Formats: sequence, C-alpha cells, structure tokens
Amino acid sequence: MTSEQARLGVAHYPFIPGPAPLMVVRTEGSHLITDDGRRVLDAGGGAIVANIGHGRPEVAEVAGRSLGEVDYVLPPWATPARVALRDRLVRSWLPEGLTQVGFLSGGSESTDSAIRLAHAHQRCAGRPGKWKVIGRWPSYHGVTLAGLAAGGHAGRRAGYDALLLDFPHIPWDDADALEAMIEAQGPDTVAAFIAEPVIGASGGALVPEDDYFPRVAEICARYDVLFIADEVMTGFGRTGRNFAVDHWGVVPDILVGGKGMAGGYAAMGGIYAKPSVTEPIAATAHNFMFFTFGAQSAHCAVADTVLEIMEREDLVERSAKVGASLKERLADRLGDHPHVAAVRGLGLMLGLELVRQREPHTWFPPGFAAAVAAEALARGVWVYPCGGGDPVQDALLLGPPFTIRDDELDTLVDVLPQAIDAAAAAAS
Ligand SMILES: Cc1ncc(COP(=O)(O)O)c(C=O)c1O
Repeated sequence: MTSEQARLGVAHYPFIPGPAPLMVVRTEGSHLITDDGRRVLDAGGGAIVANIGHGRPEVAEVAGRSLGEVDYVLPPWATPARVALRDRLVRSWLPEGLTQVGFLSGGSESTDSAIRLAHAHQRCAGRPGKWKVIGRWPSYHGVTLAGLAAGGHAGRRAGYDALLLDFPHIPWDDADALEAMIEAQGPDTVAAFIAEPVIGASGGALVPEDDYFPRVAEICARYDVLFIADEVMTGFGRTGRNFAVDHWGVVPDILVGGKGMAGGYAAMGGIYAKPSVTEPIAATAHNFMFFTFGAQSAHCAVADTVLEIMEREDLVERSAKVGASLKERLADRLGDHPHVAAVRGLGLMLGLELVRQREPHTWFPPGFAAAVAAEALARGVWVYPCGGGDPVQDALLLGPPFTIRDDELDTLVDVLPQAIDAAAAAAS
C-alpha cells in the first residue's frame, strides 16, 4: 500500500475486502506477469476467456485505431465494425440459420437478454402465458437476477432466494425430465429451456450423452419452447468446434456468446437467433431495449480481429487437438489419483472433479477447489476453481489459450498433482 492509499483509506483493489489479489502489470502469451516479476501460467485463461493468448500487438493496434475512428454510437445504429463482425459471425462461425445478431458487453447481459428475448418472442407471437424458463441443476448462466434464477449454481444463488423468480429446474443429464417438466408446468406456460452444452462453472466440464441435445431440440420444437444454448464459456472454439452444439449437429433457437468472443481483449457478449425468433417482435414493433454500452464499435472491431486471427491460425482445430492430448496426459497422470474422481471435457475446456474419497464418494469441506487453485498459484499456475453444490462440489476448470506451448503444458501437468496433494494434506 502506498502512503497516498493509506491516506485515502483504500487498502487494495477489490470492492468487497478480502485477501489481496495478484497485481498483474503485463500479460504475454500464456502468462500473467506480476509487479514482483513472477510469471504465472494462465491455464484458466483468466475465467476461460483468453483463447488467442495474451499480448497480441495486432489486436492492441486495432483497438487504438478503431477508437480513433468511431467512439460512442447508439447500439441499434450501424457502424462498419459492427456490420463486419455480424457478417463474419454469420459467414464463418454461427450454426447455419442463426442470422439475427445482437451485441452486448458480457455473458450475464447476454443470457439475461436471451431470456428477455424468448419472453418477448412468445408474447409478440400471441402466447403471453408462456413466460417460464426451465433451467438445470447444476448450471450457471450469469449473475443477473434472471440468470441466477434460471441457473442452478447453488453456491451463487445462496441467500438471494427472495429476489429470484421461481423457475423450474431439471437434472442436467435427463432429456425425458424436460418433457415431463413441460407437461407438469403446462406447455402454455413455458417460454424457453436454457442449457450450457458443456457445463462449466457449476460442473467442471460435464459433457452430456451424444443423444441428449438432439432430443432436447426435438422436445422444445414440439412444445413451442425456445431452446437457448448458453455458449458463453463453450463458444468460439473452446470445445474444439466453433460452438459446442456443433458436436451434436444441433441448431438452437437462440445461442448466447461471451468470454472467448473477443479473447479477453474487449468486453463482448452476444445473442444470436433464428429469424423466426425475432420476426414476431419486429412485426409488433415491440421495443426490445438495448444496453447503452452494447455493441461498442471499437469492441466489435477487436472481436472481429480476434476471430480473424483464430481463422488464420486454425486455432479451433488446435483447441481440439491440444485438448485431446492434454486430456490423455491428465488421465494418465491423475486418472488413478485418490482425490480425482473424473478427468473430462472437450477441446481445451477440461475439468478435474475433486473428492476426498472416490468410493464411497465423499467431498472435502467446501472450498477445497479454491484451496487447490491457491496451491497451484503458489507454484506459478492459474487454474479456475469451480463447482458449488450437488452433484459437483469441487472441480477445477482448465481453459488455457489455444496457443499454449508443449513446455507450458508440461508445467501444468506437473503442478496439478502437487497442488492437489498439498491441499489434501492441509485439509486432512
Ligand atoms: C455459461 C455461462 N453463462 C454466463 C456467464 C456469465 O458471464 P459473465 O461473467 O461474462 O457475465 C458465465 C460466466 O462464467 C458462464 O460460464
């Protein structure tokens, strides 16, 4: 703390006081560099964001230049950068048929907007009674009140019950439960079903059976329930395909993006929909309100450049290949570890589920994943702790840049068992 900070009464950066976080003064390749010169391997990509690696001068140059050309313009108006990004997404990235593109500033704004969009669609199509959104246990759809209510992250919902709409939830892996829940609620009351194709923050990369999402899409279509795929974490190559739904050949009615869309270089999220979703809204001239800072033109230019780099360097393919080999190495190294119940995931979205004991399945006291992450950080590696309730209390998510090098992967694979053993020893 400087003497000026002491005089002002500000201790360290976070809004809610807690342990002092790292002071990161530079980001470079797969590394974060701290004020005391430590190099931290960013194997979590921050919060599963940094997909093209840190510190690309080309992106910084576009950010400066585009801000010099166009600063603030109302979100519904066009700018060349907005139109170019929209065109690139429809041409090269989105599942076929998703041609309606709206830009926001992050994942939570985007899932919240997707829920509002589904609601507006049903109302404008003459079905005003269809308002409920079915979510799953576990899941995470962001921290707005609608996102928390539709989400199933027990830890992050805790204490906010009075503020949350009572949306129905089903288990994450049971398509029959979706149909049963629509029937139980009454099909005339259900607007949408929202799901992460691979469950991230609440599940540590839970991957469904191959027939799950095709069945979900069929059930939703049959009941006029919009299928919202929340690809905030899984999108833009993270699972080794453009979007995770591509693994199963499914096109949702609404897809939500964020995180990797701009690789961490800009605050971007988005909602992408079939024309059939937006047409009733346009026909009734309903004002689907924007966010003041949605679609910032310079942010769109940055996202466009990040996606262009991913195309030029074939990084989605690299995510698939490097992810498959990292998963194999982790399974070799940790598959029999007494505190690792599962090694799973797709592409470079990999999860390790952590337990006190595999058989019978018991957990450490809450906070074990965070303790392992702290041990890894002390050894120079950042991984993203997650979980938070039944069925996954503790897990680690690995989401490194798609450009991560072999020697950096060696470091990650070496540090993980050390961190788990150290945290387990401290907890026992
Ligand atoms: C699937 C999913 N949806 C929504 C969000 C919220 O995104 P943000 O933190 O950018 O608001 C997250 C963040 O982790 C996420 O993983």
